Amino acid sequence: MGGETAPWWKTAVFYQIYPRSFRDTNGDGVGDLPGIIEKLDYIADLGISALWVSPFFRSPMDDFGYDISDYRDVDPSFGCFADARTLIAECHKRGLKIVFDLVINHTSDQHPWFIDARRSKDNPRHDWYIWKPRTSPRTGKRLRKPNNWVCQFEFKSAWWDNEETDEWYLATFTRHQPEVNWRNPELRAAMYDVVRFWLTEGVDGFRMDVVNWYVKDAYFRSNPLSLNANPDIFQRHVYDRNQPETHEICREIRAIAEDYPGDRVLIGEIFSREPSIAASYQGNGDDELHLAFNMELLYRKWNAKKLAASIKKWYGVLPERGWPNFTLSNHDQPRHATRFQSKNPATQKKRTQIAAMLLLTLKGTPFLYYGEELGLQNAKIPRAELVDPTGITFWPLPMGRDGERTPMPWNADPGAGFTDAKTKPWLRFSADVENTNVRREQNDETSLWRWYQALLGIRRSHQSLQTGTIEFSFEGQRGVIAYRRQSAPEGEAECPKAIDCYLNLSNKSRAVPSPKGTVLLSNSRETGMKLESKTLVLAPHEALLVIF
Ligand code: NOJ
Ligand code: CA
Repeated sequence: MGGETAPWWKTAVFYQIYPRSFRDTNGDGVGDLPGIIEKLDYIADLGISALWVSPFFRSPMDDFGYDISDYRDVDPSFGCFADARTLIAECHKRGLKIVFDLVINHTSDQHPWFIDARRSKDNPRHDWYIWKPRTSPRTGKRLRKPNNWVCQFEFKSAWWDNEETDEWYLATFTRHQPEVNWRNPELRAAMYDVVRFWLTEGVDGFRMDVVNWYVKDAYFRSNPLSLNANPDIFQRHVYDRNQPETHEICREIRAIAEDYPGDRVLIGEIFSREPSIAASYQGNGDDELHLAFNMELLYRKWNAKKLAASIKKWYGVLPERGWPNFTLSNHDQPRHATRFQSKNPATQKKRTQIAAMLLLTLKGTPFLYYGEELGLQNAKIPRAELVDPTGITFWPLPMGRDGERTPMPWNADPGAGFTDAKTKPWLRFSADVENTNVRREQNDETSLWRWYQALLGIRRSHQSLQTGTIEFSFEGQRGVIAYRRQSAPEGEAECPKAIDCYLNLSNKSRAVPSPKGTVLLSNSRETGMKLESKTLVLAPHEALLVIF
């Protein structure tokens, strides 16, 4: 498809902000919305075009905002409602798009809907959540739990006591996140009103939390067992996820989004390691979600063949009119700078450069996670400082998510420019703030930050990298991934037509057949250098873009 007609979310580069950790403006150690607003110029300067902000709505913070008690207000720890409006307006002023997190698989147990629902079986909102009786009406005896479904973050049964009605309610994250009943039409309508509320406020779309968990099996059957511990917790989630009715909900939300002007986008988190399941939520390519996250790359280690196979698999399962997207890090998985880590600092830097070039030159919308432009690593958080419920439940297993949620290091001063010098941030900083911080990297021509900025600029100015085709010439053989991006013939009449990307993930030189072209960017040779010979010898860990 030509660039002129592509909707903005196909050509955009997204940047995910975890608001608790971006910038604290009032010295309470917790990042806030005014902090994001203060840093919008930073984001624009890096070359980003769209933001996804993790939840900042009213919440008791049992799951740090993924447990919402009021969908239409901002939690006081993040600011006030007016700040959300200002955030949208300030993004738009700078030409940035902004999507909010839509967490509608569950609410907080402090949401007024649940407080009502749990009071009595006669409450009109009772059926907005999922209940099962604890006592047999026939024998008066206590029943067994309805099935084997697991509460993911507590590693216990997902069925929790409600004394008032002598029932269990279903909650599969923490016990404080009761699942709503999407089979109830009033609940559905109430959730759709939430969607309309923020679209009317001008948000450009949503990142939708755990879409594939919305609907549960009508018969509440037990899941078959499996050997996969992470993330499946030893079950094949046949009955508590991916029910066919979920697609109808996606179509309904899509129809709502399309009622608004400006290509509002729906980006689904599909919690599954199987890319074909993620792809299925794009429907026929234009009737369900615009984008769906494929989680596979978030689990990949430094292995060229496996990375290439995951990428190709993703392209292969998408519907014909669907659109890919890629992400290497988010707030739920160890950062890729740590996942791809090498003990040798020079190699480490080159690996993060290769990863960035891969993410920013593949066909598909890239999603960056705040701090990855610095090479930020996961922090090792001592047990006494753990705050993530998963981390606490599974300690000492490395399942916790605090390590990838540490505050953004803006500089090396006390407080790291994140918070006041004397304030203790809500989570400790990652190690090495001294070297890994925005100020230092912006002032260093050779830094990873500069590398990201350069790549983002190149992507922006070459239509072939945004909407062009992709064809692989190396799929991990001898550690090399290589592909050609080419724009459609009608696309760039006067611009060069093709860009080749070569990524040498190995620590050896690698000879590859070369096009005659000009170096656009490399971590091992000069920009502008002409490549004339038939063979190109890639340096160890070289990341190279050639235009011709
Ligand atoms: C997925 C989110 O990404 C994660 O952070 C959250 O804990 C769960 N959904 C529950 O909302
Ligand atoms: Ca604050």
